[in-house]
Parts: sequence; C-alpha cells; structure tokens
Amino acid sequence: MDKNEISNLLKNARVMIVDDDITTLTLIERFVKKLGYAGIAFQDSQDAFARIDEVNPDALLLDYLMPNLDGYEFCLQLRQQKKWQNLPVIFITAMETTDTLVRVFEAGANDYIIKPFNPRELGVRLRNMLELSLIRRKLDEFGRTMQQQVEERTHQLVHADRLATLGTLSAGIAHEINNPTTFISSNLQTLELFWATVEKLLLSVEDNEGDFTRKVEFIRNEMPPLIAGMKNGVTRIHRITNSLKTYSRKEKIEKAVFDLRDATTNTMELCRNAIKKCGLNIDRIEPETPVMIDGDQQQIEQVLVNLVVNAADAMCDCETPSLSLTLDTSASEATYTLTDNGPGVREAILDKIWDPFFTTKAVGKGTGLGLSIVRSIIENHDGSIVADNIESGGLEFIIRLPLLKE
Ligand SMILES: Nc1ncnc2c1ncn2[C@@H]1O[C@H](COP(=O)(O)OP(=O)(O)O)[C@@H](O)[C@H]1O
Ligand SMILES: [Mg+2]
Repeated sequence: MDKNEISNLLKNARVMIVDDDITTLTLIERFVKKLGYAGIAFQDSQDAFARIDEVNPDALLLDYLMPNLDGYEFCLQLRQQKKWQNLPVIFITAMETTDTLVRVFEAGANDYIIKPFNPRELGVRLRNMLELSLIRRKLDEFGRTMQQQVEERTHQLVHADRLATLGTLSAGIAHEINNPTTFISSNLQTLELFWATVEKLLLSVEDNEGDFTRKVEFIRNEMPPLIAGMKNGVTRIHRITNSLKTYSRKEKIEKAVFDLRDATTNTMELCRNAIKKCGLNIDRIEPETPVMIDGDQQQIEQVLVNLVVNAADAMCDCETPSLSLTLDTSASEATYTLTDNGPGVREAILDKIWDPFFTTKAVGKGTGLGLSIVRSIIENHDGSIVADNIESGGLEFIIRLPLLKE
C-alpha cells in the first residue's frame, strides 16, 4: 500500500469518542474533525457501547473515569467481541499512575494520552493507530482473497489432473478393447458367409425325423437377427472406442481451409435421422458469403452433429422442438450460436456437462463423451465454446472460431 492509498483510506476514517465530561468531549470532537476524520461523540458510555456496531468506528477514544460503565469495563467487554478485538483504542486519562496505566493496557487498550492533552500529540497517536489498523484490515482482506484463490485454483488443478488421467486411461482402454473387437467383427463377417452355406446344406437334408424341419425353420429364423444383433453391438463398441480416442487425442489436427457453411450443410445431412425422429425444426441463418477458417472440417462437423443430436435428445418430449443455428462473423471471428427450446440444464450441473462420462441419459443411451470431445476439438482449433440456459427455457451454445487470416 502506498502513501496515497493510506491517506485516501484515512480520509474516510470514523473515530468514536466517549467521554462523560461534555467540555472535553466537544473539544476532542472538534479536534478530530479538524484532522479530517469523521468524529462521532458520546457522553453516555452505556449508550456508546450499545451503539458501537451501528457507528462502526475505525478507532475509539475512551475516557477512563466515567459513571456506570467506566473505560476499563467498556474496553474489557469490547475485547470479548471478536469483531472489535483489533479496534484501536486510545484511553484519555487524567491519572498517570503506573497502576492506572497497567489497568488500561490490561483492559486491551492500544495507547493512552494524558489529560489535559496536547492536540498535536493526540493527532499523531491517532494517525499512527488508524494507519496500523487500516493496513491490518487490508492485509486481512488480502489474505482472505488469496486463500480463496488458492482453494479455487487447487480445485481446478485437481479437476484438470483427473481429466488428464482419465484421458490417458481411456486411450489405453480404447486401444485394448479395439483389438479383440476387430477380430470379433471380422469373424462375424466370416460367420455370416458360413451361415449362407450352412443354411443351404440344412435345407438339402432329407427330413427323416419328425421335428427336423421345424428345428431348421427355427434356426433359420433366429440366425439372421442374432448376427445382426452382434454386428450392431460391435459397431457400438467401435463408436465408443473411437470417441474415447478422439477425446484423449492430444496431437495437432490436420488443417485445411474450408467454408464453415459447408460444414453446416453436411451436418444437416448427417443428422437427418435424428432430426426426423423428433420432428425437429431447424432455423439456419448464415452469411451469404463464404466463412473461411483453417481447420479440420470433419471434426467441426463432429462438433455440430453432437450439439444437434443432444438438442434433439433434449427436446424429444417438446411439442414444437426447434433449434436455431446461426453463423455470424466479426472482424476476426466466426460465431456459431445454437439455441434450442428444450428444458435446458439445471444450474447445479451446468459446468459438469463438459466432463467426460457425464450424462443424464439412460444407460446404453448416452456415453457422456459428446461434449468433452466437442470442447477439446474447439480448443484444438484455438476457439472457445460456452453453454448457458436462456431465459425462455432451453440451452444455448456459443462457439467462437478464429477466421482465416487474409
Ligand atoms: N441441448 C441440451 N439440452 C439439455 N441438456 C443437454 C443439452 N446438451 C447436452 N445436455 C446435457 O449434457 C449431458 C452431456 O452431453 P454429452 O456430453 O453429449 O453426453 P450424452 O449426450 O452422451 O449424454 C447430457 O446428458 C445432457 O444432460
Ligand atoms: Mg451427446
């Protein structure tokens, strides 16, 4: 804190004065005001004690001898309140005996001044006390802010660390699962071919047992959906492992120059099923001229597909599900705004939706990887993405991407 800052703080300092002798009280009050502080005077010490919270002083000038509640008791009781433990208290006393001074300090005083006092001495002592107290208060405030910041930052670091570990872990798992899945997948293709031959063989066998034909019929009915089911399962496993790999991929993206409007068009095509299934109406607004960026078009499409599919999922129960998809540009940025009219996200989980594996969907329906992939793709493109609920209900995503430099 520099001198200027201190004198600014001092300008607003509030000094409470308590003295039963009206002449001294008025004198001190006038003097305190002359020094540039706000002086609040009390003749009745009990009244002063009752109203100290309301006055909220930065320093207290206290007479020692007073009826009812004397300075000693006043200070002693004041110090029992946590709030006033550090308030600078200067005693004004007519008795300069060692005994009195010891009692004054025992009661919790910071300083004393002898009556009749020298105004300049009072001025200097008061100023010293106020400076110390204001600096202490600033330090306390600073300490509290620092502690808060350290706590927040630790929380963020732990979170980031957890996500990084999760990334490495999932890349490893994805790799391990991919290998056996690949041979299941190729064996399935062979099985499908074999089945065609086996089916023919079965049909050519003479029926000499009564229920043979029935059994063959049963197997012929069951086999195709069984194989289809397995293929479906394998495709899903592949989809998940691919997501995991994208999520944990740290390497640079393959960049090329492309028009974001093309990415939007392809997205609409890729999401056709989801859009049709929930009867989603999409309002697409974009500039008439190309919006060129340097990036990975397929990945940007992956981002948009994820957001559109999420919106469709969220609005399935809405009467008129609609999504507005606006592409806009400024001098250096392209901005996508996707606003749906679904239920939005509860405030308590708004920042969790980006976490890998966070999903509110039924088991088997969501992987919870969509948005974490979305975010890592956008960040790899030096862009940013945020989500917020809008007032009319629904969720809004805003994506910013740097435009291609001319
Ligand atoms: N448009 C949206 N409206 C409401 N909730 C959404 C929307 N988009 C995402 N969410 C919430 O974010 C969660 C995480 O999304 P995501 O990472 O894509 O995983 P998943 O779709 O597999 O659940 C969803 O389960 C859902 O709760
Ligand atoms: Mg999703």
